[in-house]
Amino acid sequence: MFRRVLVIVFALSVNVFAKEIKQTREDAAQFVGAMGCRSSSCHGGAGEKRSQYITWSQKDFHTKAFAILLNARSKQIANGAGLTSPESSARCTVCHSPFASVSQSRLGPSARIDEGVSCESCHGAAGNWLRGHTRTDWTYATRVTAGMHDLRNLYVRANACAACHQNIDNDILKAGHPALVFELDSQSMNEPKHWRDDDAQSGPRSWLVGQAAALREAAWHARTDADPSPDSQETSLALAWLLAKVTMNDPSLPKVNEPDSSDLEPLQKQSDELARRAATWNATNKSMMSILRAIAESDSEFAKQKTESNFYRAARVTLALERLASALEISPKIDNELKALRADVQRPYDFDAGAFAEHLRAVRSALAK
Ligand code: HEC
Ligand code: HEC
Ligand code: HEC
Repeated sequence: MFRRVLVIVFALSVNVFAKEIKQTREDAAQFVGAMGCRSSSCHGGAGEKRSQYITWSQKDFHTKAFAILLNARSKQIANGAGLTSPESSARCTVCHSPFASVSQSRLGPSARIDEGVSCESCHGAAGNWLRGHTRTDWTYATRVTAGMHDLRNLYVRANACAACHQNIDNDILKAGHPALVFELDSQSMNEPKHWRDDDAQSGPRSWLVGQAAALREAAWHARTDADPSPDSQETSLALAWLLAKVTMNDPSLPKVNEPDSSDLEPLQKQSDELARRAATWNATNKSMMSILRAIAESDSEFAKQKTESNFYRAARVTLALERLASALEISPKIDNELKALRADVQRPYDFDAGAFAEHLRAVRSALAK
């Protein structure tokens, strides 16, 4: 079985993007469950190298993802969307409790459906690689070929998170589910990270890959959902506007263009290309600074749009300035100005585009000092 998979994999891997290692189809692989990763000699021990289970079980938001479905707010959202119980509806469990949405035959004896978003929700079903992945003769590429997701690749990582973190069906949104806003750099820190990350480029790359993946997902939903949400439409337009500025200010990046018609299909392709390339983006200080300035100089554009579109732009502008300032290590210099922007974009219904534009001008003067 394993050998056959390898043959298929190598055949497919001709002519793919250099850094991506081709993945096997893992449709039938078994989920082991977080308990299977927990032993102290594996990922449940002390010390940085073996503590991933401890970090996840004690600090990671994802352990609560299933429990949330049992609270009153979830009941209300589910009822509003015409579902009786959130914890047994695939419309909720697909993101909040992935094991509840896969067939029983794929769950190993220690997998628990109430473990929320656990190791294999991100790293892939471990059935085919659990035993092998610690072998000293296995490289990282061998593990990925056996079905472990290539999360070191930021494009693969962003796609894994964006599947649950960007779009949600309109009826669930209307029933009161919070709108989802994907931003890979800050959300990786908030998870929090259970991995070593000493690459100074991973912050800005994560931000750009994540925004491009968010655009691709939003545009696809806006185009193809039976009842597309205004959220996916507005997110697409706001991100297209932002990423057009970004890619215009760094010639090494493939271009994203604001759509000139209501057809968002070209955006899907452009943003996917950008997401792939941004995974290895050379984010120099010069290029990040010119992008940051171009975004901070967008204040006059906020006079022309309707309020809702302005809000979506402002939210993505705020994330962009925060992440770029952090990568450039100039956050302290514009800290108060960033705080004002963050406060502006808390709620769509009282968003004030004039005040936001004013606060963008304040960022510019702080940068000039
Ligand atoms: C596409 C994936 C997805 C689906 C489908 C989904 N959710 Fe969520 N949900 C999320 C994410 C991601 C968050 C975290 C949002 C954030 O804080 O950024 C969340 C947050 C929530 C929250 C708020 C939790 C908090 O801490 O405030 C509730 C309640 C909730 N979801 C219930 C539901 C219910 C009920 C359903 C089904 C009707 C559902 N969700 C379907 C992804 C999803
Ligand atoms: C929400 C997604 C997510 C969940 C849940 C998750 N991981 Fe990870 N994990 C990642 C990402 C992203 C990385 C960074 C890329 C890499 O190193 O492979 C990572 C890295 C790792 C690494 C490499 C550590 C290093 O420093 O190189 C190990 C080991 C690991 N995870 C184990 C686990 C275990 C065990 C669990 C469950 C207890 C778990 N992960 C749950 C996303 C996740
Ligand atoms: C299978 C679906 C799924 C995947 C994959 C997933 N998440 Fe989540 N995530 C959720 C749900 C559901 C919640 C809400 C649970 C909660 O609030 O406790 C959540 C909450 C979070 C939160 C806390 C709320 C917030 O938005 O600040 C962070 C941070 C987060 N996820 C980061 C990530 C990152 C980074 C990745 C990819 C490496 C990822 N998630 C992959 C479903 C997922």
